[in-house]
Amino acid sequence: MVVSSGSWRADFERLWEQLAPIGRSASGGYYRLAWTEADLACREWFVATAAGLGLEVEEDGNGNQWAWWGTPGPGALVTGSHLDSVPGGGAYDGPLGVVSAFLAVDRLRAAGARPEPAVAVVNFTDEEGGRFGLACAGSRLMTASIPPERLLARRDPDGVTLADAMARAGRDPAACGPDDARVARIGTFVELHVEQGRQLVDLDVPVGVATAVWPHGRWRVDFAGRGDHAGTTRLADRRDPVLPLAHTVIAARRAAMERDAVATVGRLATVPGATNAIASRATAWLDARAGTAEAARRVVADVEAAARRAGAHHHVEVSLEEESWSGGADFDLGLRARLAAAVKDRLGTVAELPTGAGHDAAILAARVPSAMLFVRNPTGTSHDPAEHAELDDCLAGVDALTAVLEALR
Ligand code: HGY
Ligand code: MN
Ligand code: MN
Repeated sequence: MVVSSGSWRADFERLWEQLAPIGRSASGGYYRLAWTEADLACREWFVATAAGLGLEVEEDGNGNQWAWWGTPGPGALVTGSHLDSVPGGGAYDGPLGVVSAFLAVDRLRAAGARPEPAVAVVNFTDEEGGRFGLACAGSRLMTASIPPERLLARRDPDGVTLADAMARAGRDPAACGPDDARVARIGTFVELHVEQGRQLVDLDVPVGVATAVWPHGRWRVDFAGRGDHAGTTRLADRRDPVLPLAHTVIAARRAAMERDAVATVGRLATVPGATNAIASRATAWLDARAGTAEAARRVVADVEAAARRAGAHHHVEVSLEEESWSGGADFDLGLRARLAAAVKDRLGTVAELPTGAGHDAAILAARVPSAMLFVRNPTGTSHDPAEHAELDDCLAGVDALTAVLEALR
């Protein structure tokens, strides 16, 4: 499959149209969860696109895919993002960075550049943690920021472990884990990503440079009560776990307001989930983020205290477990300046902005020089089918990424 048609617009549209139907639901939301059929189809697309560009593809033990231009070695310039989605997510979160990376490499080659240092396009596995609950799984495993055994035992909502899901996809879960040799190859990592907010819209700028990723985490809060009949159980006799859960959701909003943070409960589960039965158990998943790790953790402490108070009042046991934590990143000032200069030189304008969204670039930043570009999203919405980027802005993103890779070589 040849990608280059001489028209970057046509090339972008071709790659985009190839990816678009994979994992898309009737409502337009994407279900590209790690190691599902849709994820495997995205991986096949990655391999085919790399082959079309004559790039050598390898998949590491953690499932991250690497398409190499030139001989892999120390000091490589790596760019890319992820292809998995949150359940019901948008089309751009992740894929825009991978498509743009392929096209930027193609443009470098078309301009006669040589792969010294080598350049790689990467698809990091399971960035969203949409199935097993841990964000940035592939980049965390590779950089040893999570022990593999802790993640491989994680179960999805159907009870399937990550280890089993990988095995069913023909991978060896025992190959997961730290990969210092691969990390050592990375000279610089640059991730292009759709903006998940409205800062670039408000600034009227198509492409921006990331300054920081907020610290953020996910916690599971379990409430154990007593199941019973909805019609025959007196109110005074109930141990209804959904009541302290409800208090906890309100407490999360209050804590976020008080701590200048954000907190979300977007996922709930009750057992048995029957309309005419008092639940025996209930679970809420909390996502909390703030400009500092301390503020984010204070939000969680406030929420846990409120959950335990409400649990005691309703004779319900409460437990809280941290499922995912990322300390965030302040991106390297010098690298940011080089990116901003390259983008401004190419596009005539640039902005710098922080984000509350997590990214593989923030995980890698703990080990190698990393940076991010954001592309304007006119809706400002993300993790939803409304997520969008105009084609002209996507092409400006490819332009900017190409200029950045040229400047960093
Ligand atoms: O959750 C996040 O911020 C990212 O999209 N994984
Ligand atoms: Mn996302
Ligand atoms: Mn993303």
